[in-house]
Amino acid sequence: MSVTPTSSTIRWEQDETGVVTLVLDDPDQSANTMNQAFRASIAAIADRAEAEKDSIRGIVYTSAKKTFFAGGDLKDMRKVGPEDAQRVFDTATDIKSSLRRIETLGKPVVAAINGAALGGGYEIALACHHRIALDAPGSKIGLPEVTLGLLPAGGGVARTVRLMGIADALLKVLLQGTQYPPRRALENGLVHEVAATREEMLAKARAFIDAHPESRQPWDVPGYKIPGGTPSHPKFAANLPAFPASLKKQLNGAPYPAPRDILAAAVEGSQVDFETAMTIETRYFTELVTGQTAKNMIQAFFFDLQAVNSGAGRPQGIEPRTVRKVAVLGAGMMGAGIAYSCAKAGIDVVLKDVSPEAAEKGKGYSVKLLDKALSRGRTTEAKRDELLARITPSADPADLAGCDAVIEAVFEDTALKHKVFQEIQDIVEPDALLCSNTSTLPITVLAEGVERPADFIGLHFFSPVDKMPLVEIIKGERTGDEALARAFDLVRQINKTPIVVNDSRGFFTSRVIGQFINEGVAMVGEGVEPASIEQAAAQAGYPAKVLALMDELTLTLPRKIRDETRRAIEEAGGAWTGHPSDAVVDRMVDEFGRTGRSGGGGFYDYDEDGRRTRLWPGLREHFTRADTAVPFEDMKERMLFSEALDTVRCLEEGVLTSVADANIGSIMGIGFPAWTGGVLQYINGYEGGLPGFVARARELTERYGERFQPPALLVAKAERGETFSD
Ligand code: NAI
Repeated sequence: MSVTPTSSTIRWEQDETGVVTLVLDDPDQSANTMNQAFRASIAAIADRAEAEKDSIRGIVYTSAKKTFFAGGDLKDMRKVGPEDAQRVFDTATDIKSSLRRIETLGKPVVAAINGAALGGGYEIALACHHRIALDAPGSKIGLPEVTLGLLPAGGGVARTVRLMGIADALLKVLLQGTQYPPRRALENGLVHEVAATREEMLAKARAFIDAHPESRQPWDVPGYKIPGGTPSHPKFAANLPAFPASLKKQLNGAPYPAPRDILAAAVEGSQVDFETAMTIETRYFTELVTGQTAKNMIQAFFFDLQAVNSGAGRPQGIEPRTVRKVAVLGAGMMGAGIAYSCAKAGIDVVLKDVSPEAAEKGKGYSVKLLDKALSRGRTTEAKRDELLARITPSADPADLAGCDAVIEAVFEDTALKHKVFQEIQDIVEPDALLCSNTSTLPITVLAEGVERPADFIGLHFFSPVDKMPLVEIIKGERTGDEALARAFDLVRQINKTPIVVNDSRGFFTSRVIGQFINEGVAMVGEGVEPASIEQAAAQAGYPAKVLALMDELTLTLPRKIRDETRRAIEEAGGAWTGHPSDAVVDRMVDEFGRTGRSGGGGFYDYDEDGRRTRLWPGLREHFTRADTAVPFEDMKERMLFSEALDTVRCLEEGVLTSVADANIGSIMGIGFPAWTGGVLQYINGYEGGLPGFVARARELTERYGERFQPPALLVAKAERGETFSD
């Protein structure tokens, strides 16, 4: 075998039978990416392959790294602006052309996908005639560019459309950015074969080359037609009803340019020849990557998420610990979900409630989730049984012996929470971590009820726990660093994303989402048509309707919190200002008896099964006024600004200590629109930067009230020309 270092990031290894293995192996990085060195390497490889074509029998791409190929160079993409458009276009065109030259050499080309192949990695594989994936644990295959506000521009759109037809390419691969484990990638047509070992994978590659000495892509065979045909209408509108609701929303007005551009690139590209389709794809990519949304999303979903998950908020120098057995106190909605998530991560759970029946009912939630997963082929019977065996429902405190962590999720009541901790603190391990899932009660006050306040901490989960990826960790005044580190480790152990905040009323998430809801409700009071308020929230990119969200929480809850807050502020000698939404909530509850969904009706009407039927007609009768003129743009920005401004106040007050926590917490915990890159990135990326944001906040203050006054920290940063970053 001859090994020639043709280029710096790809090794050319040719055996005596003429099979060339191209080993992706960037010497300067732990993973292969589409950086400058790779671009040069792949061009050099294409040159050599063309020059030595007669001695080549076939080509196999594989990698010497754990992953096959990690994708685009995001650090670089975060920096490019509209002025770089031509350079971006040319670079993408170069990569495509090198891959294309190898693809059309007339020799069989195989991808031996030894690990994760996402984005650019899967695009290399798509430029091969045959794809074999190694069934490596944790390995994922797909084109997740859309989740970063981008589209795959290494031929990913043009090739998936031609490989699987336009509808499947869009729905299975492009528009949701699904990342498939190898076996599911096989089922969904992303790869041709799966191999159990590296040797088997390479043997299969060789077998393909032996059997197909003159392989070509289907789309390079004359007479080729895209499977399923091409849509005649350029907007593909007729097929929109089949799209998931979340996508329809993104395609119909919410400010997500990537899904819209992917759809356009796929549809337009399907009507033309392959080379033109590739150019169309590059054009759309260039527009996306040089725009603000992609920068926002790359910042949040790559850099901030990595910072948050890798332990930026975890105290250093404390040995990591794993929890073996957790006590979950309260088997209601939250406790049941927490128990499931812990058991799923391999932790033994004692799920305790006041009676064996209540505890059993809580375990029933896991049974329901697992049965559903089983019926959809997402788990096996053995795995289901194994997970369920880890959950012991109980009403007997003695069963908590040996637990090294406790997560309390009983009713939201300080005295009750104190009582349940009293009951178990001498039974669990003497140094067990003590956590409360309270959504509003101060952690410092709850810690007064336990003997070891240094081990006491808030772990705020979101509902539904099995789906929501975030956990807000709340440090009380007396919480120790050891407890914080252990809480962080526990959240990671159950595969969730932790943000760390300091104790305060409503912490970060509940406090800030309250601003969004209040703003929506305040507009009802100003006489704005309620359907427009909901529409404004959707077009701003919020996943939830604001008035519907209020109904879910119940209208009485904010009243209770408001009264408590008012009392606390007044007791501390402060002045209570209130919010314009207060009067609306009071009228809804006191005058019309409408307390929300659980009370049978709120801003919406509901049927007997609790399903929303329509906006309550009484809103128009009692609140809406024809002379109200709040511009639609103001409606959207009032919601976004109210949350952004309060987040800055959280930073000022020390509730938040990291920008990444704010960005990730806002998107993953409370539905702040993902296109913004999170609540503080929204300010960074606002037109005109921080000064532009400050000016607009002042305008909103004049029109709608003092709550939009920009906080001193924001004004100071704007004056110094800074942005929010860690
Ligand atoms: P829930 O009412 O569904 O469940 C509470 C459970 O605690 C009930 O099953 C009840 O029988 C049990 N319980 C009461 N006294 C007990 C005792 N002495 N020992 C053991 N179990 C006892 O309430 P949910 O919604 O699950 O909320 C629980 C906690 O989680 C509350 O503190 C709430 O504020 C918080 N939370 C709720 C969220 C939500 O979306 N519902 C979100 C985040 C936190």
